[in-house]
Amino acid sequence: MRWLDLQGVRRRCRSLVCKVNVFVGKIINEHKSKRSLRDNQEESTYDDDFVDVLLGMHGNSKLSDSDMIAVLWEMIFRGTDTVAILLEWILARMVLHPDIQAKAQAEIDAIIGDSGRQVSDSDLSKLPYLRAIVKETLRMHPPGPLLSWARLSIHDTQIGAHFIPAGTTAMVNMWAITHDEKVWPKAHEYKPERFLGVKESDNFPIMGSDLRLAPFGAGRRVCPGKSMGLATVELWLAQLLGRFKWVSYGEVDLSETLKLSLEMKNTLVCKAFPRV
Ligand code: HEM
Repeated sequence: MRWLDLQGVRRRCRSLVCKVNVFVGKIINEHKSKRSLRDNQEESTYDDDFVDVLLGMHGNSKLSDSDMIAVLWEMIFRGTDTVAILLEWILARMVLHPDIQAKAQAEIDAIIGDSGRQVSDSDLSKLPYLRAIVKETLRMHPPGPLLSWARLSIHDTQIGAHFIPAGTTAMVNMWAITHDEKVWPKAHEYKPERFLGVKESDNFPIMGSDLRLAPFGAGRRVCPGKSMGLATVELWLAQLLGRFKWVSYGEVDLSETLKLSLEMKNTLVCKAFPRV
């Protein structure tokens, strides 16, 4: 019955593809015209971005327009909501745990002093508590809870007590692992301090080398934007906490809903007060 497309998925996808081609095609064309203008000028202040890098590829690596649209769309599609959703979860947690928020702000203040400047990339390595907040939020509210890029078992495989026959498509449920009391003591408590222990093992890697917490996946299909995503979230968070105090406006509801990413079921509404 698949060909009947009863739920209209294929029809909706076809109409979306047209919109994506127009939207991303426009970005590519704008870059092409800027580049040709630049080539005609002797000096230029124009900085290359990701689209320019793709356009500058030559020889065997040269991408066709449709490949370039696919790459750029994947970047926009995978890289925007994950970052925004993670920040929303973190702010929800900051509003719910004012003590943790204040501790992070004190850490930022100690770096910035009364210079009046904004936190910058180079400050991030000096903000371990802020990083622990990001890690703890990725543990409790991973935007990508299912590592879902089909893992296909090509041989019969035994994993612990489970037999996986050849030909099985498997998904890894990262959410279940990060909420498992056997893996994480007091798994349902929000405690950034768990990442600040003195033992080496408390300094958890989250880029995919330890499957107890792999919010960006692991292996060949690991998130290619993980470093950029993490750096973006940390910088935004440091600036948002450095400049504002966040307080609740009504109830903060931590219910989850799984759409393309794991979102807050009810959008966070809160108040921001400028910090002096
Ligand atoms: C906090 C931010 C982010 C989180 C939590 C996140 C999480 C993930 C996860 C869990 C996967 C699936 C990995 C797997 O199945 O093993 C994934 C895939 C992917 N992510 Fe991210 N991501 C983030 C940011 C970004 C950014 C900023 C970009 C691009 C600019 C990006 C691009 C991608 C792409 C293209 C894939 C698909 C990779 C493939 O098909 O092999 N992500 N991400």
